[in-house]
Amino acid sequence: MSQADTDQALFAAAEAVRARAYAPYSNFQVGAAILADDGNIYAGCNVENAAYPVGNCAEPSAIAAMLAGGGKRIKRIYVTGPGAMPVTPCGGCRQRIREFADLDVEIVSHGVDGQPLVQTLGQLLPHSFGPEFLNK
Ligand code: THU
Repeated sequence: MSQADTDQALFAAAEAVRARAYAPYSNFQVGAAILADDGNIYAGCNVENAAYPVGNCAEPSAIAAMLAGGGKRIKRIYVTGPGAMPVTPCGGCRQRIREFADLDVEIVSHGVDGQPLVQTLGQLLPHSFGPEFLNK
């Protein structure tokens, strides 16, 4: 599959799951789609809660889907949201991605009405702490 085809498939998967996001409080629906080391695409959406702090972002939902489906490493990840501003992962999600991705993995942030922004994990989370610090 070409890079363009992969990106099209990741965008489509993120948008399909974003439509199912549970975000009645923020009304800000987010989708995330991961190309994993097993070649499959795994997607997840944000899941909010009436007790606001226990809601979760789209990225950990996609990571959970990846692990449940047998994928182990993130090779590329798309995050899509409403509006024109690229939806870049929050700080906590950058660290969650860090657990399963190399620093040169590209994160594509895409507000559906705008242009995609492509950044590496190393750019988004410089000087980061990761599993290798614990010899894992
Ligand atoms: N959100 C995500 O799902 N991922 C991000 O990277 C940024 C924010 C969600 C959390 C919350 O449900 C809504 O967007 C508004 O912050």
